[in-house]
Order: sequence, then C-alpha cells, then structure tokens
Amino acid sequence: MKKRNDWKGVINEYIDFLPLDKKGSFITLLEGNTHLIFSEKLSKKFNLNVYYKFEGLNPTGSFKDRGMCVVISKMIQDGYNAVICASTGNTAASCAAYSAKGNLKSFVLIPEGKIALGKLSQSIIHGAKVIEVKGNFDDALKIVKEVTTLFKIGLVNSINPFRIEGQKTGAFEIVDELNESPDYIFIPVGNGGNITSYWKGFKEYFNIKRIDKLPKMYGWQAEGAAPIVLGKVVENPETFATAIRIGNPARWKDVLNAVQESNGKIDMVSDEKIREAYEILAFEEGIFCEPSSAASLAGLIKANERGEIKKGSTVVLILTGHGLKDPDSATKSSNKNLIKIDKNLKSAIEYFEEVEKVERKNSY
Ligand code: F0G
Repeated sequence: MKKRNDWKGVINEYIDFLPLDKKGSFITLLEGNTHLIFSEKLSKKFNLNVYYKFEGLNPTGSFKDRGMCVVISKMIQDGYNAVICASTGNTAASCAAYSAKGNLKSFVLIPEGKIALGKLSQSIIHGAKVIEVKGNFDDALKIVKEVTTLFKIGLVNSINPFRIEGQKTGAFEIVDELNESPDYIFIPVGNGGNITSYWKGFKEYFNIKRIDKLPKMYGWQAEGAAPIVLGKVVENPETFATAIRIGNPARWKDVLNAVQESNGKIDMVSDEKIREAYEILAFEEGIFCEPSSAASLAGLIKANERGEIKKGSTVVLILTGHGLKDPDSATKSSNKNLIKIDKNLKSAIEYFEEVEKVERKNSY
C-alpha cells in the first residue's frame, strides 16, 4: 500500500491503464488512495471480512474525483475551454473544482431543490455556473446532451468513457491493498457509472493476471428510484438518498452487464433501511458517509439476511461520498442527540444526574 505522502493522484499512479496522452499535462488534486477500513464489528457479526472503501476522503468528498481528473485532463488536451454536466450534486462539485484548477469554464445543471447543501455550496464556491432545472436529474441530463450537440462545451457526465476510465482506479486500489480480489463488491447505483467502472477495473487486472478471480458485483438502488430492478423507467423517482434519485440511468445496459458477467445482482433497499445503515455507520463505525453511500451497507444486511453471502468471504462496501455533503440529513436523523440547557451549572447537573445518570466523583 502506497503511503499518502508519495501519492501522486490516480492519473500518475495508473497512467499505464489510462487512454490519455502521456506527454500532455494532467489536472490533479491528488485524488484516490482512499482508506480501506476493516470493520471488526460487522466481520464478527456476519462471519465475513468486511471492508469499507471510504471514497468520501477524495478531495471534493466523493468518488467522482477519480473520473473527473481524467475527463478534465482529456478536455484540456482536446482544446475545450468549457465543460458541462447534469448532476445530483457530487459530479457538479467535482466538475467545478477540477475546472477551477484547469482554468475551464463550467456549467452544472441540477434538479431544483433536490441536492444536498454541501454539494451546492461546493459548485458555487468553485465558480461553476449553477443552473437549476425545474425537473429531475433525468430531465437535466437530457438537456445537457442536447446542449453539447449545439455548443463546443465538453460533456463530463459518466456517459463520457473517460469518467469510467478514471473511476476504475478504485478497483485497482482495492486489489493493490488486499493483494487479491475481494469476493463481493457492494455499491450504490444511480446512473450506473461507478459499478461499470469497478467492473472494468477488476477485469483489466484479471486480464493482466494481477488477480486470479473476479468479485461478484452487487449493485443497490433505492426503492423509490429503482428502474433497473423494476425493469422500467421511473418517471418521478423519490428517495431521501438524493444522489441516486435517478429514474432513467444512462448506463443501464452496462449495469446489467456487470452484474450478469460477475454473477452478482442488482437489487433495491428502502429509504428506511438506508437510513438505518447510515446511522449504523455513524454511530457504530465512526464513519460519516452520505445517505446514498449507506445503500451499500443496507444491501449487505439484506443479502446476508437472505443467506446469499458465503461465510468467510471478503466483502468491500463502496462508501461513495462524505456525510458532510449533506448536513441536513445528519441533523434530522440525530436530533435526539441535540440537547438544550439553561445557562447555569444547575441545569447541567440535572442533565448529567437525571437524564444521563452519570456517577458522581467520590472526591466531589
Ligand atoms: N453515491 C453517490 C454519493 C453519488 O453521488 C452517486 C451519483 C452514486 C452513488 C451513484 O453512482 O451514478 O455512478 O451509479 N451521483 C451522480 C451525481 C449522479 O450527479 O453526482 P452512479
């Protein structure tokens, strides 16, 4: 495992696997090299080896940075000076940051009122033009595709293959750290770009014989936004996991391909179960990820209850984004932990003695 202090970002680390002009200049914020955190608690509870790949530790707080550094570098090499994307928030934040570094103009289209506050603030502060669409992500993506046929503005959504190329480095890092392939990958699915990327990464390492087996890919959608599971477009997707609130995923076929080829599964979890998993991660594991990321754990709990996961297996849960992106969900979820007292010691003593029942010190 490489040490953080000599990490050069995913492009420099994995250039031999990327279709970029090696002599060109690259835009990097030293993304990647995110922690693979072993979970003693879940491993024991489920009789598995469970790891979290915490992608919230990327520069803008989500996995999008892996693909964004590659696609922005490509846009610059191709002479573009403006880029555009539709987004539920994280792609927009990443696009805005890498465009700032690369001196590109950026335009981000977001569903009005439906993106987490942290993500909106990132896009604004990095200087993107934030265009709110009176509609959902799918409406925004449709507009973006049409705009890029009319104007010389580069499209940086994950329908752009360079995004997939960058994001596949997540799979490389897991193997480089474990020195073998895990048995299962659990991953949230929105547009399907990330599951497509991981599968591509594992297959590439398999083809060069870096690994001798491949993981089963288990993708998870939210029940209110589960078009691939249901087999039909969802016109009005709804879920509190706003990052994966998508009714017509751009990489639908690639998702089916990844789960079929790997003998995995595409399934869905309810908002209630996603919320429970989000709280388990924060309360019991000390990991603050955003709600959508918790779909991975909600999925593992569901699959394990059904007896689908072979005991003793190594399972990696991809936690796609940082919890600080979405402070509202966190404070709403845990407002029972917010206590108000009067400005005197008496109220504090009452609180500790009567509510918390903390023992007094002997010497007191
Ligand atoms: N988790 C988070 C935190 C995301 O932001 C996204 C997608 C996903 C999971 C799903 O990944 O789309 O590759 O299947 N966010 C996109 C965005 C749609 O605009 O930020 P996917």
